[in-house]
Amino acid sequence: MFKPDLTRADVTPERFWLNRRKLIAALGAGSVAGGFGLRAAAQEGLEPNTWEQITNYNNFYEFGIGKEDPAQNAGDMSVDPWRVTVDGLVDNPDEYALDELISDIPTEERIYRFRCVEAWSMVIPWNGFELNKLLAKFGVQPEAKYVAFETALLPDVMEGVQFPVLDWPYTEGLRLDEAMHPLTIMATGIYGRQIPNQNGAPMRLVVPWKYGFKSIKSIVRISLVAEQPINTWQESAPSEYGFYANVNPEVDHPRWSQATERVIGAGFFGGRIDTLPFNGYGNEVAALYEGMDLRENF
Ligand code: MTE
Repeated sequence: MFKPDLTRADVTPERFWLNRRKLIAALGAGSVAGGFGLRAAAQEGLEPNTWEQITNYNNFYEFGIGKEDPAQNAGDMSVDPWRVTVDGLVDNPDEYALDELISDIPTEERIYRFRCVEAWSMVIPWNGFELNKLLAKFGVQPEAKYVAFETALLPDVMEGVQFPVLDWPYTEGLRLDEAMHPLTIMATGIYGRQIPNQNGAPMRLVVPWKYGFKSIKSIVRISLVAEQPINTWQESAPSEYGFYANVNPEVDHPRWSQATERVIGAGFFGGRIDTLPFNGYGNEVAALYEGMDLRENF
């Protein structure tokens, strides 16, 4: 349904493949105006983490709270077929078969920094498409101001949902202009391969300028709504996690600093770097928050 098992990632040594892609990205940044140039600039010079790191150090609490639990426990989740309900303020509400819904949207690669609120980070080469391309199919009505998302709740295969660590199902939300921004993607792959269950198969959100918890996994519902939705982490601890969750080195988490981050794969002591405002995507997204108090709207 998604991709053949064998891709160029299997036949080309990763390093050569990356260099070729960087060249293509650099050419794009220099020669193409508009959206592609902006995106190419946003991913220029980034050195991705390995497949091993990206797929074995995860947060997916439905499969356990340990970083290695999702890779160990998510294998039994069946992601084909997969249905996504679209409802709320749209002209075309329905329960869609995912493979049919996205079959005519071409995927592209986006190499993004990924910064968890826990102060670790990676660089991930996602495959996916802009969320705005998916939303365009539903006929978003003018009264819609936010998009709410919901993760599958599958108690038979998700051992973690027996425990009330979070209020299941996991939910998230974006303001409509954030959802429509060209950097916001739905990811269906990593390194040219189908996205593994532990990373949110078959489709998860990626919002690179926000803390990782906004990037909700294994989505089964997309709702267009007028009021700001509550997200799972905000609900569990409103003084610690807000709705916006923009990466901001100047606003600490109440229990730890957000000024720096530990780069996964760089060694526990050697690999701390400064955290950038909006995770380094300020040129592209700061205008979305003009005039807002980002301390209050954390
Ligand atoms: N989505 C669901 N459904 N459940 C989760 O526990 N964890 C979030 C986010 N999406 C989470 C989720 C958090 S805290 C982070 S940091 C990222 O997923 C981790 O994504 P990764 O495992 O692909 O790195």
